[in-house]
Amino acid sequence: MSQPKQAESPNMPDENNETVDMKDIVALCKRRGFVFPASDIYGGINGFWDYGPLGVELKNNLRDLWWKQMVTTPPIGPDGEPLQIVGLDSSIIQNPKAWEASGHVGGFSDPMVDCKETKKRYRADHLIVLIPNDGDGAWLALHEDAEATEIDKRIKKIGKGSKENYKIETLVSLDTKDYEKIIAPDTKEKGTLTEPKEFNLMFDTHVGATASEDNKAYLRPETAQGIFLNFKNVVDSSRVRMPFGIAQIGKAFRNEVTPRNFIFRSREFEQMEMEWFCHPDEVKKWHDFWFEERMKFWESIGLAGSNLIKRDHDKDELSHYAKEGLGTADIEYRFPFTAPGFGELEGVAHRCDFDLKAHAEASGQKLDYLDPARDNERYVPHVIEPAAGLTRGVLALICEAYTPDPNRPSGVYLNFHPSVAPKKAAILPLTAKEEHVPLATKLYMELREDFPVDLDIKQNIGKRYARQDEIGTPFCFTIDNDTIEDQTVTVRHRNTMKQERIVMDNVAEYMRKEMALMEK
Ligand code: GAP
Repeated sequence: MSQPKQAESPNMPDENNETVDMKDIVALCKRRGFVFPASDIYGGINGFWDYGPLGVELKNNLRDLWWKQMVTTPPIGPDGEPLQIVGLDSSIIQNPKAWEASGHVGGFSDPMVDCKETKKRYRADHLIVLIPNDGDGAWLALHEDAEATEIDKRIKKIGKGSKENYKIETLVSLDTKDYEKIIAPDTKEKGTLTEPKEFNLMFDTHVGATASEDNKAYLRPETAQGIFLNFKNVVDSSRVRMPFGIAQIGKAFRNEVTPRNFIFRSREFEQMEMEWFCHPDEVKKWHDFWFEERMKFWESIGLAGSNLIKRDHDKDELSHYAKEGLGTADIEYRFPFTAPGFGELEGVAHRCDFDLKAHAEASGQKLDYLDPARDNERYVPHVIEPAAGLTRGVLALICEAYTPDPNRPSGVYLNFHPSVAPKKAAILPLTAKEEHVPLATKLYMELREDFPVDLDIKQNIGKRYARQDEIGTPFCFTIDNDTIEDQTVTVRHRNTMKQERIVMDNVAEYMRKEMALMEK
């Protein structure tokens, strides 16, 4: 599943992510310091993850590339002019009235069912039910991600015959009267599921010394609202003119009923969101524009090919703010746990004027715009919102890069696009001997001014190459006895394992050239 453009790879990578096991990816992430379970020494805490020394570098690279595309060098718009986008870093905790007006207190919930027997809780819309074709016998509930082997096992244990004897329905499509026939996913008893109840996903807390309803506050479930709350401040304090964008990257919190699939759905995560404010007549143009730009962005950092698709939301899955208008178009990625299907990576939504109107009404402040370019027309701007998961993006990058290769000692390498690779090169003295180390250190000190590089001295060279393969370092430069003689080093390429000799003074220039070739 490496990037097809790097055709030099000697392997036959799985471009469709169908044969890669998530367990192997999770194990590599822990073994090499990308992602650890939060509070690992206490047995973890469900839905929370820590980013290790390499994970934080990878996440920062993705964050910085997004910020560059949005804020530092925003794209040229459809009219040939550079776009105006400014940044923001708003508070995680805001006045709770903001979350009432935005619709999150009343409506940001998922349907959940409880199992009275096991006390386990499930997202009702994530359960499927196997119903016997002949109408006789128990109905079997399973998680929608259940693999074919899991389904077969369950039928063998408590069902009858094989899958062919059943039809599959979603739990939410069934009448609750039929729940008494259903066996919940983790029990053998019938009729233990409760009716679905709405469960609000916002984490709450109390501000100040007392814990009462009066000082209840919420951890933000999306970064977007901080942008709407500051619309007026930004317009009044900066020189932006319609159309323009406000971009923000930061933490968001959702008390997900069933956090799943590693960092794909967690309870604390990071988002990269941009609210693009424009005249209501121009929404179609901007929705199309931003969708294309965002696709290009993911492609430019390596998520190319058949693993990335567009999917328009059906009417019934639209968020409350996107029910009117153009709806939401998702960019979806084929994760190993969704393959052959896809999972959402980013949504490009038309939020209409829902949020600004709601906050204007609740706060009593004017949140419209007087447009000098339109004969001083006064209007509430519409919003096109590209909203991506930063941490979910990190997972997509790792899954895309993960390339099993039985021909190398590590058995796997991460084929990161050079722009996101946490380390661009490793400097390896062949031995820890006196003569090799000072030369390696000299090269390291020179290179680190321009690139994030690793100086790795310990262990035999094979083990060090294996480590660099597993962390996705594009180049290793080895210093040996010949370096002392003729000032050359061996460069080893991550993808091909090919080695060649180059002059030590040319290493930086060589890296620039080779990375530019890989980025094409
Ligand atoms: N402001 C719009 C908004 O928040 P969303 O689709 O709920 O829209 C945007 O979230 C992106 O945030 C998603 O496409 C996904 O990448 C990421 N995301 C949402 N919930 C997440 C979770 N529980 N864990 C990790 N990432 C999540």
